[in-house]
Amino acid sequence: MSQSNSQIDIDKLTSLCKRRGFIFQSSEIYGGLASTWDYGPLGVELKRNVKDSWWKAMVWERDDMVGLDAAILMHPDTWRASGHLENFTDPLVECSDCNKRFREDHIDSIVCPECGGKLSDPRLFHLMFKTHMGPVEEDASIVYFRPETAQGIFVNFSNVVTSTRKKLPFGIAQVGKSFRNEITTGNFIFRTREFEMMEIEYFVMPGEDEAIHQQWMEDCMDWYSVIGIKTENLRLRKHEDKELSHYAKATYDIEYNFPWGWGEIQGIANRTDFDLKAHMAMSGEKLTYFDEISGQHVVPYVIEPSLGVDRAVMTLLVDAYTEEETTTPSGKNETRVLLKLDPSIAPVKVAVLPLSRNEKLAPLAKSVYDEVRRSSLVGGNVQFDDAQSIGRRYRRQDEIGTPLCVTVDFDSLDDDCVTIRERDSMKQKRVSITTLTQEISTLLNGD
Ligand code: GAP
Repeated sequence: MSQSNSQIDIDKLTSLCKRRGFIFQSSEIYGGLASTWDYGPLGVELKRNVKDSWWKAMVWERDDMVGLDAAILMHPDTWRASGHLENFTDPLVECSDCNKRFREDHIDSIVCPECGGKLSDPRLFHLMFKTHMGPVEEDASIVYFRPETAQGIFVNFSNVVTSTRKKLPFGIAQVGKSFRNEITTGNFIFRTREFEMMEIEYFVMPGEDEAIHQQWMEDCMDWYSVIGIKTENLRLRKHEDKELSHYAKATYDIEYNFPWGWGEIQGIANRTDFDLKAHMAMSGEKLTYFDEISGQHVVPYVIEPSLGVDRAVMTLLVDAYTEEETTTPSGKNETRVLLKLDPSIAPVKVAVLPLSRNEKLAPLAKSVYDEVRRSSLVGGNVQFDDAQSIGRRYRRQDEIGTPLCVTVDFDSLDDDCVTIRERDSMKQKRVSITTLTQEISTLLNGD
């Protein structure tokens, strides 16, 4: 039996993530810090695979994209110019009985959703974290933790154009941390105050923006198929006028069907020339592009595909989580929990498992392990596991989403063959050690 998304229990998923080393509550030994999470040994591999896949699809496989890695702390005028100091707020309401605070646009009722008490009138709550730069804590030394990576791209527009001589249309991609003092957080890593973003600012000639906006929606949707997200769990939703950010002419969200309902995983906005013009006005610097065809300096329009790495990880975990009723070799019914992650995203690509810890098997098992993990044909993280029964080890690898297990048994000592077991089908195949890495490559990459 495999369940629909609405049946997936987020507490079970959170507990699997902790138990297997994907995601831990941050500062847990001190009681934790609300809605902050640390990525453990498997989580860090999963997250790295997501970012690598995105970079490959969005930068390396295109000739109209370059990368950037700007600083988190920026000159405070950046946020004055971008409008964030004035506009980056959410409406906050507070219960007069239990004092709980809510984002007004996230609740349906006019009374407190927790205790039914009276809610205050909404007030605008500012979402940027601030700190002081240097030894003196005065207003003049205030700097902000960036709430989006985008502004680092806009302020470097001329640097990139001059150094790369890119022609319109072209884009700049960036992956990095952002911070928002969200009023309400929750649903595990879905909404947090510190998160990582993968953003593109794609610069186009004014007038070409609408067609290119449509194209980016297709390109972004395609990437979710590349990482194995089920298409039927995705949809595009156009923002209503009242939802649009202060800089956007039109925005579409890619939404995923989470256990609690449809939720945004990516925004694709038409930011027009708002940001470049605003930074020109504030800085007095020229952020224009010289169009050789018309002989004119133009301020490009910007299409912005922007998503959270943590939301992509959350989406992958929910989409991959599966419970299946199976029968063990001894005839016992049991529930098999597995993460049906695409091999390109799975944190462990292959696990090498000697049938037992018998000392006769150990040297061959270790040499198979060394060969597999060093092979460029496998190209990913490989684990060795000889603890507990083989059945339990298969279950552990299923639970962390390992696509292939390679079992070294006593016959291997004579026939130089090992068994490859596939995660989803549990099918087993005997292959020669000499062709093992090629077989693995074919199974993982389909080539
Ligand atoms: N520069 C555009 C921008 O910041 P956004 O819709 O506010 O747009 C883009 O954010 C994406 O960043 C969202 O679609 C989501 O994936 C992610 N994101 C935003 N706030 C987040 C939060 N508090 N926790 C985790 N991810 C978040």
